[in-house]
Amino acid sequence: MDTSIDPITALKSDHEAVRAVLNNLEGYLKKIGSVSSDGLKNNLINQLHEITAFIDKDLEIHFKKEEEALFPVLGNYIGIETGPIHVMLIEHKHSRELSGEFKAKINSYPAEKDYKSIIDLGNSFIRLLSEHIDKEENILFNMADMQLSRDEKHGIMEKMLTIK
Ligand SMILES: [Fe+2]
Ligand SMILES: [Fe+2]
Repeated sequence: MDTSIDPITALKSDHEAVRAVLNNLEGYLKKIGSVSSDGLKNNLINQLHEITAFIDKDLEIHFKKEEEALFPVLGNYIGIETGPIHVMLIEHKHSRELSGEFKAKINSYPAEKDYKSIIDLGNSFIRLLSEHIDKEENILFNMADMQLSRDEKHGIMEKMLTIK
């Protein structure tokens, strides 16, 4: 990835990866709800660790690219304390809280066998994040495209590349 890439295009391509993971997660949750054997449930729940690893690493980097590179610059035009950026920050916080609870339930599964909570939390997480991504693409990113200058976009991309 180089600094000539448009930062909004780069963030949208992150979103594609997130959508693909959410689709996989939805599939796993459906299977967990429908299989009756304990062994199969265990295997499926074990595979959720791969998804929570993506949430902890890749999704966290994506949030930071928005929080540390895009939002501060776009905030000069549309504000941060109120309006769409404020809403996006609240949703990032909810997403982190929800994924924390989701992970805790997965980790306590061997002792508690509470697969229903895993399914509920997972589905809430999918809903929250899908709607969040839609809002960013339909509202916030359009504002960024209209407001930001070439130089500002270049600076945002440079900053994004330092976030790992
Ligand atoms: Fe976001
Ligand atoms: Fe995003």
